[in-house]
Amino acid sequence: MGKAKRQSHLLDTLNKTMADPAYIPESLADVPRHRWPRHIAMIMDGNGRWAQARGLPRIEGHRRGAETVRLITEECARLALAQLTLFAFSSENWRRPREEVDFLMELYRLHLIQERPTILKNNIRFRTIGRREGIPAEVLAEVDRTIEMSAGSTGMTLCLAVNYGGRQEIADAARRLAAEAARGSLDPAAINDETFARALDTAGMPDPDLLIRTAGEMRLSNFLLWQTSYAEIWVTETLWPDFREPNLWAAMHDFSKRERRFGALKPDAAD
Ligand code: FPP
Repeated sequence: MGKAKRQSHLLDTLNKTMADPAYIPESLADVPRHRWPRHIAMIMDGNGRWAQARGLPRIEGHRRGAETVRLITEECARLALAQLTLFAFSSENWRRPREEVDFLMELYRLHLIQERPTILKNNIRFRTIGRREGIPAEVLAEVDRTIEMSAGSTGMTLCLAVNYGGRQEIADAARRLAAEAARGSLDPAAINDETFARALDTAGMPDPDLLIRTAGEMRLSNFLLWQTSYAEIWVTETLWPDFREPNLWAAMHDFSKRERRFGALKPDAAD
């Protein structure tokens, strides 16, 4: 069997959606579905503190954090969210000790290999945002393989932000548009927020409705600066390795009570 055929066979056997429209966790039973977020973005913070509190090396916190990634990804797919975006590695994280950076890169590589069946089984489409430069070739190879193998999935999009920085993404988009304008294929007067959004890494993705940050800090840390303009922010003291499904449901419940006006006076007519 050829490579493409083998992959499509694998997809056929595994690509049965686990998203169940009847699945509603008890704590969301009183929330109408249209008040659930469609796209949740997460800043997964506190791995280091989790490890430190137990007298373990920081990398142990990242290892446990990867287990949380699997649990939460599967739960979001089961809830049939449109997208989950996870901040895995920022453009500033290169400043960490070499051993920690190397460990994280290897963790991503192994995670992709290990979790590919989970991704396919849950009908998840995998994508990434962030600059490819600097990421080891063997990690990029697994990223590309996962993108390719999950391209036919029709369920939730799992987007991993790796070597990602919001300002860098905006500057890259501006450079791309400027180059098009210089070539004469784009009229500068035609640049508006829609054309700009199409030049970002997140082109074609919906903006996040809800941004969850673990480990207590109240900041964006250069994550999705453009895309979070109207996102609701929910911060928990819980450290990422301890974050579980009930924490996610609590965030979704809280989100459902927010009045989203998008700058207007009245909430959405659907409410
Ligand atoms: C922040 O914790 C977390 C990161 C810099 C990386 C996030 C990585 C994971 C959750 C591991 C696995 C991810 C995948 C996708 C397999 P921190 O080290 O800044 O914690 P601290 O603020 O307590 O030091």
